[in-house]
Amino acid sequence: MKMILFGAPGAGKGTQAERISDRLQIPIIGTGMALREAIAQGTPNGLEAKSYMDGGHLVPDEIVIGIIKDRLAQPDCQKGFILDGFPRTVAQAKALDAMGVPIDLVLDIEVSDEDIERRMTGRRICGKCGASYHLIYNPSEKEGVCDRCGGELTIRSDDKPETVRERLRVYHEQTEPLKGHYAESGKLRTVIGQEELADTSRLVDEVLEAYR
Ligand code: AP5
Repeated sequence: MKMILFGAPGAGKGTQAERISDRLQIPIIGTGMALREAIAQGTPNGLEAKSYMDGGHLVPDEIVIGIIKDRLAQPDCQKGFILDGFPRTVAQAKALDAMGVPIDLVLDIEVSDEDIERRMTGRRICGKCGASYHLIYNPSEKEGVCDRCGGELTIRSDDKPETVRERLRVYHEQTEPLKGHYAESGKLRTVIGQEELADTSRLVDEVLEAYR
């Protein structure tokens, strides 16, 4: 399974990516996560990306495309992968097409902006492994501690309400139009994100069943 998880910031891509990765045993290639790691390590790409991310803007295409190209060439991606957060611009979609990697499925998770803004205030992420939680909808077993690795749970720096609104604006302007590109290729499947995580997961699994 070579798939793209598509959707607005906070639609639940990362949450579903973790589930699908566990279930299908394929790696997640998340550009947001890769960029946060680069920032933590203080690499030149990380230093350049930080100001864009903190402002809710997209990081320049050449940085992100370079990350994806290197990652997709790794041996563990040959039997499948989940692209989470890539592509987000027409230039990125064209670059992916040019890499000649066949995509089986583009799974789009639709959630309204109002619901996303409400959700983001409750998101917590693990500072160590990046796992995503929600105070109400997907709480960790022990408050403030990651179930997976024991790391401390924190609020992401770009989850401030004004930054979330800017990320949604950028999504509608630059990323949402890509849906047309993938609809034309017949690869696009849409699920409506539900209030309860388990309900969204069930709809996602129904789509995946058709690809077994
Ligand atoms: P990135 O890290 O990719 O963030 P994003 O796409 O904005 O998405 P999020 O991680 O915020 O949300 P998500 O959809 O994964 O939702 P989650 O599962 O956490 O990118 C960050 C930044 O990096 C970008 O702004 C940009 O600057 C840069 N960047 C990344 N890729 C780039 C690219 N290709 N080009 C240029 N720049 C790039 O869920 C959200 C919350 O809701 C969680 O708390 C979760 O527990 C909860 N939740 C999930 N599902 C449900 C549900 N059904 N019901 C209730 N709660 C739910």
